[in-house]
Amino acid sequence: MQPRHFISLLDISTSEFRGLINRAIELKNHRNPDYQPLKGQVLAMIFEKSSTRTRISFEAGMTHFGGNALFLSSRDTQLGRGEPLEDSAKVISSMVDCIMLRTFKHETVTTFAQHSSVPVINGLTDKQHPCQLLADMQTYFEHRGDIQGKTVAWIGDGNNMCHSYIHAAMVLDFKLNIASPAGYQPDKTIANNAGEHVQFFDTAIAAAKNADLIVTDVWASMGQEEEQKQRCAAFKDYQVNSGIMAVAHNDALFMHCLPAHRGEEVSAEVMDGPQSIVFAEAENRLHAQKALLEFLLCAK
Ligand code: CP
Ligand code: NVA
Repeated sequence: MQPRHFISLLDISTSEFRGLINRAIELKNHRNPDYQPLKGQVLAMIFEKSSTRTRISFEAGMTHFGGNALFLSSRDTQLGRGEPLEDSAKVISSMVDCIMLRTFKHETVTTFAQHSSVPVINGLTDKQHPCQLLADMQTYFEHRGDIQGKTVAWIGDGNNMCHSYIHAAMVLDFKLNIASPAGYQPDKTIANNAGEHVQFFDTAIAAAKNADLIVTDVWASMGQEEEQKQRCAAFKDYQVNSGIMAVAHNDALFMHCLPAHRGEEVSAEVMDGPQSIVFAEAENRLHAQKALLEFLLCAK
């Protein structure tokens, strides 16, 4: 039987997504050091890209649950020397209980999952970042309650985070207003599949109007560093600043998956201001990851 993977938010149902959010909140508020459901279990974490939050949240989460996490950089394993993904997936999954991958190509994770005998988690690809959305949605629910029917504004690059926001809008039934410059729009197929959950706007201010949550991300993602200058020029009118927050609802929140560049995609005033919940969002990666590991690895 194929194991249950978590590669996209579309891999989970609405009730499973809601269940993960509620469980993450419960695990956060009632930490019990004696609860070690993953005692003796091992998570392999394969990183082709840098990470602070994803690595630490999975590693700390496994430790809290009595298990262990292995940090494997693709540079130091045979993966980096060209061992086929299929062979690597068979071998690694024969030795561990779960595998998390952070890769450039999305297909690396899907191919790996096809050949893995244990659950595979997408820890970010160029296309999607579903783990971050578990934490983001938990954070919204904690601060404002249910997100169903609310309006979220995505300002900036139509990147991996934007795609996962589109998926979250579909699964949790909220509206996503997107403002991205020409040439940096999200993937058409992903956006079209979301139907009326997604609406495009020509300016950041138009997308932010009456929003309940404003979200952005870096202008140049990992792997796009050499495009930084050209991207800064293309995105100059897409900064989330107090002018943008002013047209959203009075109680609107600001989120960013981090790391952030103050003065680029977000002004320091907004990033460090009263509507920003970015550090609660970052902490929730830990609780959300624990809920996910329990969901995938503990027999119901
Ligand atoms: N938000 C996020 O995934 O952070 P890291 O790149 O530090 O893991
Ligand atoms: N879009 C960013 C997210 C980092 C967590 C990147 O891919 O670099």
